[in-house]
Amino acid sequence: MKTIKKIAELRKQLNEWRMAGDVIAFVPTMGNLHAGHMQLVADAKAQADRVVVSIFVNPSQFGVGEDFSSYPRTEEEDNRQLAALSVDVVFLPDVSEIYPNASVTTVRVSGVSESYCGKKRPGHFDGVATVVSKLFNIVQPHKAFFGEKDFQQLAVIRAMVDDLNLAIEIVAVAIVREESGLAMSSRNGYLTVQQRDQAAHLYRLLCSAKKDVLLGENTLPEIEAQSLKQLQSLGFDPEYFSVCRQSDLMSVTTEDNALIILLAAKLGNTRLIDNIQIQR
Ligand code: PAJ
Repeated sequence: MKTIKKIAELRKQLNEWRMAGDVIAFVPTMGNLHAGHMQLVADAKAQADRVVVSIFVNPSQFGVGEDFSSYPRTEEEDNRQLAALSVDVVFLPDVSEIYPNASVTTVRVSGVSESYCGKKRPGHFDGVATVVSKLFNIVQPHKAFFGEKDFQQLAVIRAMVDDLNLAIEIVAVAIVREESGLAMSSRNGYLTVQQRDQAAHLYRLLCSAKKDVLLGENTLPEIEAQSLKQLQSLGFDPEYFSVCRQSDLMSVTTEDNALIILLAAKLGNTRLIDNIQIQR
């Protein structure tokens, strides 16, 4: 496994593989890797000849007062895990390599970026779309792998790839959970032991709301309101709990069969997100 910090060196290596006809897969991450990230890498390995993983804590997707400076950086342990899966290249650029001067270009995906996390974290998805398009242009992969854990992010990336005619196949990977049901996340490391137990309620709540949606005895707004109340009584500070349609995260109409419940809630200072898909 090679660790590359410079764009020019990465491009040189990738050109060789492209000329040899290799299928190149790309897994963008911010590091502090856990079993969720590693599932993306394993799927990438299974579907390509070469796998590039980037580790870059992207400053432009963090808001003022968010955890950019305290975001866990665990380079050595990350490298060990990636080497164990025989990843070909870890791309580990410095901030100055990705943003060498004051950038004047921002990629903004309107619509799907503006609700839910986009509303709560203004500018967040602009930062994500901008850095992902830069990384896509640097790596020029055939396929790129994203987790359904960040379902809105996946929808933003899909819309961007469609709109900008990027010749990259976006592959979605199901959420990897702890035994308790808690969705794996780098931010789970901020939780105390007690909060971690408490956090497992999120998935239970999603499963029970899914049952209620399929049962159809209560309206969707009723189910949302009940769930928000339950979140509060369980000690969370909920941001949203919403049943929407999967395709564009807009309101559900009677014709929609592929639904998703999206939730965000704070536990102490830690912001957690999760979701569950529903076919009806
Ligand atoms: P990061 O939070 O490190 O996540 C990298 C990828 O791992 C994302 O596609 C995310 O959805 C996926 N992932 C995280 N936890 C997961 C889980 N429990 N199960 C399945 N997949 C999971 O998302 C980002 O970084 C950044 O926004 C990035 C796309 C790298 C742009 O900076």
